[in-house]
Amino acid sequence: MATPKEVGGYKLGGLIIEGKTKQVFDLPDVPGHVLLLNKDRITAGDGVKAHDLEGKAAISNQTNAKVFEILKSAGINTAYVKIASPTAFLSKKCDMIPIEWVTRRLATGSFLKRNPGVPEGFRFTPPKQETFYKDDANHDPQWSEEQIVCAKFNINGLTIGQDEVDYMRKATILVFEILEKAWALRDCALIDMKIEFGVDTEGNILLADVIDSDSWRLWPSGDKRLMVDKQVYRNLATVTAADLDVVKRNFGWVKDQLDFLKPNVHHKVVIFMGSPADQDHCQKIAKAARELGLSVDLRVTSAHKATEETLRIMQQYEDTHGALVFIAVAGRSNGLGPVLSGNTSYPVINCPPPSDKMVQDIWSSLSVPSGLGCATVIYPDSAALMAAQIIGLQDYIVWARLRVKQLHMAHALRQADQKLRNQV
Ligand SMILES: Nc1ncnc2c1ncn2[C@@H]1O[C@H](COP(=O)(O)OP(=O)(O)OP(=O)(O)O)[C@@H](O)[C@H]1O
Ligand SMILES: [Mg+2]
Repeated sequence: MATPKEVGGYKLGGLIIEGKTKQVFDLPDVPGHVLLLNKDRITAGDGVKAHDLEGKAAISNQTNAKVFEILKSAGINTAYVKIASPTAFLSKKCDMIPIEWVTRRLATGSFLKRNPGVPEGFRFTPPKQETFYKDDANHDPQWSEEQIVCAKFNINGLTIGQDEVDYMRKATILVFEILEKAWALRDCALIDMKIEFGVDTEGNILLADVIDSDSWRLWPSGDKRLMVDKQVYRNLATVTAADLDVVKRNFGWVKDQLDFLKPNVHHKVVIFMGSPADQDHCQKIAKAARELGLSVDLRVTSAHKATEETLRIMQQYEDTHGALVFIAVAGRSNGLGPVLSGNTSYPVINCPPPSDKMVQDIWSSLSVPSGLGCATVIYPDSAALMAAQIIGLQDYIVWARLRVKQLHMAHALRQADQKLRNQV
């Protein structure tokens, strides 16, 4: 393939690597970044089967961009930055970890050959995670975690040890689960998927390479016969122009469907405070909730002193929003949360402000009249997290942000522990 000098206004430096479906260029004007240019090329069987397919580069580029935008909005650390041209995108420059990370929800394909006796369609809960060493000449052999750890890969100064492998395994499953939930919105079953990780110039592990119709099996309505992924091409004994047209139409359909994978639920978290004196506490809840991507309103109203007004405000929100959570912040005797809870079917979370008399006051939130189901937490973070968990039932991006936060917290602890151990 000819090497262009410029793509999408980006001046290209040297060709770093050329694979079967992409070229990777240095960008002298954007340090630490590369440009990945897709080819109009489809291949299978480690490149043994290969065809030119006009328009595939543009479809792959858009598919990949839409998938990575979903993952970025969920908080996954990605090399992908943005689209650069119809067939190219900008990415952080990585040294790639030579492992393919595969996740499977249903058993099919090569898994069946390697695991005789397991029927096609066997469901893995949690999803099955497998690793393969990237080596086309030897058909990408399956590797155990121990083999990866013992290989002691040093990638951009980072040694890939057990902590890094654990992180990538968990991140791999999470990426799968996020996209599985996304595709469920279009009644498509994500059957299995392959991803790769790289290490950027600062030593961070990033989800890298691409995710497109070459990366997964996708069965509309969970029906294998309706498959719209590259397996259709793999299955072809002979390849006619009409066959290639079908493959391309499928890929184009997938690219278009990705536009409908954004959560379509409007949500709102309304923090009611009984007095403006509670504002500091409420702002802490609002900050934590907004960091999780939640849309938050703050309102001052007292259920004791302005009961009708409190209920009127509550009803306004009930009228206008789909996924709704109320958080009640009231000091001393908390009438606010229980009154809201007794008059709505939306969830109410009590989060009383800090006080010297917390131990006595908390009972007004806990010992509520019969028929009321409000919850009580005392830390601002807890209120925000619980609100996010409730909204996350209907909005997979919010759900994903919670999972990503847990993943990153656990990894940060492992890193801190590793640093300490290395000091001793
Ligand atoms: N952000 C990145 N920075 C540097 N290299 C990258 C990045 N993302 C992907 N690559 C690498 O670009 C190369 C070209 O991609 P392509 O998918 O065409 O290769 P390939 O022929 O499929 O070979 P492979 O089996 O290694 O994927 C791959 O080696 C891939 O790992
Ligand atoms: Mg590749």
